[in-house]
Amino acid sequence: MSARKKVTIVGGGQTGGMMAYRLAEKNICDIVIKDVAEFAQHHGKALDITQGASFAGFEGSLTAADDWEPTANSDVVVITSGAPRKPGMSREDLLKGNAEVVGEYAAANAARHSPNAVIIVFANPMDVMCHVAMKASGFPRERVIGQGGMLDSERFRTFLAMELGISQRDVHAFVLGGHTDTTMVPVTSLAHAGGIPIANLIPAGRLDAIVKRTMTGGAELVELYKTGSAFFAPAVATIAMVEAILEDEKRLMPCAVQLNGEYGIKGTFCGTIVKLGSGGAEQVYEVPVSAEEKAKIVAAAKGTEELVKIVS
Ligand code: 2OP
Repeated sequence: MSARKKVTIVGGGQTGGMMAYRLAEKNICDIVIKDVAEFAQHHGKALDITQGASFAGFEGSLTAADDWEPTANSDVVVITSGAPRKPGMSREDLLKGNAEVVGEYAAANAARHSPNAVIIVFANPMDVMCHVAMKASGFPRERVIGQGGMLDSERFRTFLAMELGISQRDVHAFVLGGHTDTTMVPVTSLAHAGGIPIANLIPAGRLDAIVKRTMTGGAELVELYKTGSAFFAPAVATIAMVEAILEDEKRLMPCAVQLNGEYGIKGTFCGTIVKLGSGGAEQVYEVPVSAEEKAKIVAAAKGTEELVKIVS
């Protein structure tokens, strides 16, 4: 048995394939792409990426699996399975179909075969799917984490950097709340570039436009792609989380976790700042956002609670 760590990506679609490629380039684990034979291209993707391994610097094993056995004892399981949205659809339109795939198919089987894994939920509507994955897996709060805030924050930083004509790396900004077009909360009160508050650099009207573009950032890509949703930035964002866990980096990242009193919210998944390390979500922080931003975070959690009722 390999001494390398192991990551399973459930779902070999566009995002799953891109995640596998991004992870292979990091050369920090073995990788399994799990999907069902009749639908997916996971065998092709695994072989295709493997054939580039010597140039990509990957020395591990990358395999495709139709069954769960090859995924056994994964350290991290990323759930990407389920349908992406099409033009005109919201993430919430995917609710019922994806709940079955994420719960009974992905999370329950992942937990059975990898009882100590950290699950990262990518499938939409992500905040609700975290509840579904937690219930089906029986995993504790630390080991069910939703990816949404990482991607939304990347988008926010991109638009702020484009506006300012500066490097994205020098823009410090994040998005909390829900991963939907109406419930995400780009936190302008704490955003800065080079230590300068963003409100000192960008006039209020332009900043509002950037916040709106960030909130509909996923839909903008769905319209541009025409047949599915974004996958490059989503994959990069997710693999940054996987790396933080595998390498025990103790990174502070915006992720969805089940809140336990933060912002006055208890028991609901919502985006906040989380310390990611080998234990998963090792610490959950309440960020001192403005009163208006806090009210939006609370409303985001309420929105998630309503949708959770539909699939419970
Ligand atoms: C997005 O925002 C896929 O939800 C993802 O693009």
